[in-house]
Amino acid sequence: MNTELHFRPANMNDADCLLLWRNDRATREASLYTGRVEVADHLKWLRSALNSDQKRLYIAEVNHRPVGTIRTDNEEDGLILSWTVAPKSRGKGIAQKMLKRFVEECDETLFAQIKVANIASQKVAERAGFTLQDVKEGVLFYQRSAD
Ligand SMILES: CC(C)(COP(=O)(O)OP(=O)(O)OC[C@H]1O[C@@H](n2cnc3c(N)ncnc32)[C@H](O)[C@@H]1OP(=O)(O)O)[C@@H](O)C(=O)NCCC(=O)NCCS
Repeated sequence: MNTELHFRPANMNDADCLLLWRNDRATREASLYTGRVEVADHLKWLRSALNSDQKRLYIAEVNHRPVGTIRTDNEEDGLILSWTVAPKSRGKGIAQKMLKRFVEECDETLFAQIKVANIASQKVAERAGFTLQDVKEGVLFYQRSAD
């Protein structure tokens, strides 16, 4: 059995699982916008994200099963990174593997915004080489400079 983690680009067939993960309580608590997302809004957002040259959306898979997602949003000086692990796959080191792998394969400056209460994400970001730059209104601003 191949337990290696790999990334593939997201597509419209991922809509259901991405919405499930997005509306999960812990994901909402970790997000800047904490409300539930409705199906129609989600489909509109996903379609536009997949067609945008300002965003990239990836699904992480282990053994051909989706275990998480990473999104990048273009910024003037680099990419803002955000991530979610599938609720059923949490607590198994997946976030750590996803971030480490993604950062290793990326040669751009990366940014991440993590809420103060989100200790797990702070740990994985720091272990992937992000350093804390600033704190504003309960949000930690991290950066990982390109080598
Ligand atoms: C935060 C999240 C990404 C962590 O994913 P995960 O795969 O469960 O994390 P890992 O198993 O790689 O654990 C990483 C570290 O965080 C710790 N951790 C995991 N869940 C934790 C929790 N709820 N509280 C405190 N620490 C936690 C782990 O113990 C591990 O630390 P250790 O190696 O010192 O034991 C996942 O819970 C998630 O998707 N949450 C909702 C979305 C989110 O927070 N996205 C990030 C927005 S910036």
